[in-house]
Amino acid sequence: MKTVLVTGATSGFGKGLVTSLLENDFQVIATGRNILGRKDIFAAEREKYKSKLIELNLDVTSQADLKSMETYFLKRPLDVLINNAGFAVFGPAEECTEEKLRRQFEVNVFGMMLLTQKLLPSLRLAKGHIINFSSVFGFMGFPLSSAYCASKFAVEGFSESLSYELKPHSVKVTLIEPGAYRTNFNNAAEWGMSETLPTSVYHRQVTNYTSLRDKLSKRPNPQRPEDVVRGVISIIKSHNPKLNYSFGKDAFSIRFFKKVFTRSLFHKVSGSFLNKAFTKEQ
Ligand SMILES: NC(=O)c1ccc[n+]([C@@H]2O[C@H](COP(=O)([O-])OP(=O)(O)OC[C@H]3O[C@@H](n4cnc5c(N)ncnc54)[C@H](OP(=O)(O)O)[C@@H]3O)[C@@H](O)[C@H]2O)c1
Repeated sequence: MKTVLVTGATSGFGKGLVTSLLENDFQVIATGRNILGRKDIFAAEREKYKSKLIELNLDVTSQADLKSMETYFLKRPLDVLINNAGFAVFGPAEECTEEKLRRQFEVNVFGMMLLTQKLLPSLRLAKGHIINFSSVFGFMGFPLSSAYCASKFAVEGFSESLSYELKPHSVKVTLIEPGAYRTNFNNAAEWGMSETLPTSVYHRQVTNYTSLRDKLSKRPNPQRPEDVVRGVISIIKSHNPKLNYSFGKDAFSIRFFKKVFTRSLFHKVSGSFLNKAFTKEQ
């Protein structure tokens, strides 16, 4: 039976992946911030799948938790590592605090890199597979999202480099690039500014972004997180997975336009659309 470790398993894609992996007969190590103190999350799965489900505390920014993971996996093979934990910091680059910028990278980038580093001996032992959650924002910039986009672009660079580096060691690397899906992502997203001031030169952009996110969150979203979960399961089962997979019509169309347009044409067209959307009067 193959063993899969999932980070950020307490919610959203991560939680869905744990349940679905168990249904598909994998041994699952579900990790999350204080997951052992949040017993209700996998109560049904624990009852049903017994020892096939192992829960371990892992805050990807905690040195102590990362060390425990390393110790747990010492000389033990790991077939699949799913680096899913992540969140977004939004706000104008000029106004995001240093603390928020660093936190964005600590969780989305350094957490992923350090955990991967610690588990690579186990992944090499199993000739395993690393699956890293990026985003549509891992290949497209967006206003008031520079911190999040920068973190996901970093995930893309890390993963692509790693895929070449680990090929001689028979470890595969795959990027998951979802568009917008209704998980807890929006609730967990944070503004990077210490306060939102009406005197800020970015005030209108912030207001427009707030109402855009608000509008989108109220509109039915046909993109279902279960489809991403199902997709990831089939990627894990496939013999020859690709480097990257986009999920959702939004991510797919942006990938398509980025492929058919030159970079400068794409930038010009999306720039003019985004400029209108972010600077219009309410
Ligand atoms: N939903 C989308 O539209 C979307 C689109 C593109 C990419 N993504 C990416 O998909 C991944 C999963 O997000 P989601 O949509 O499933 O959102 P979610 O429901 O908010 O889940 C995020 C998970 O990450 C965990 N997490 C946050 N900080 C952590 C830390 N320091 N250590 C360990 N775990 C931590 C959260 O744990 P807590 O429960 O403790 O907060 C939660 O389990 C993220 O990498 C996100 O960037 C999401």
